Amino acid sequence: MALERTFSIIKPDATRRNLTGKINAKLEAAGLRIVAQKRIRMTRENAETFYGVHKERPFFNDLCDFMTSGPVVVQVLEGENAIMKNREVMGATNPADAAEGTIRKEFAENIEANSVHGSDSQANAAIEIAYFFSGSEIVG
Ligand code: PPS
Repeated sequence: MALERTFSIIKPDATRRNLTGKINAKLEAAGLRIVAQKRIRMTRENAETFYGVHKERPFFNDLCDFMTSGPVVVQVLEGENAIMKNREVMGATNPADAAEGTIRKEFAENIEANSVHGSDSQANAAIEIAYFFSGSEIVG
């Protein structure tokens, strides 16, 4: 199978609790290589653009508030079947539904402060990677 890339965010609830290293260890143990990574503060415009597809949903404003409430770590992950592999290691959106051993089961606080984001398709991965990274920042 060909190498695939996906986009990942370590969210403000996790950076606040100093969990970046523990989350990265789980990603790497799952066979994902971190080929780009930077710690940033999302602007309101970043959050509203990034989550634009959810703008009609009732949680949109709260989600944008949360994502701009502290630093995030944006990442590009590479590996075989990286998109699905990352979704598996992340666990379900709501940590109450997440399987044992997943990042969200272990670290997430609730459905909003759920520690990580991961792209859900190849098309979205390409869009999300291009929104936060230039080609020269990704070193495979
Ligand atoms: S998924 O897995 O992306 O399909 O999940 P989805 O339910 O569509 O949720 C999309 C993103 O919105 C966040 N979310 C919420 N935030 C706050 N409150 C509530 N109730 C809520 N429900 C969903 C969820 O964490 C997803 O964020 P990302 O960053 O895409 O994982």
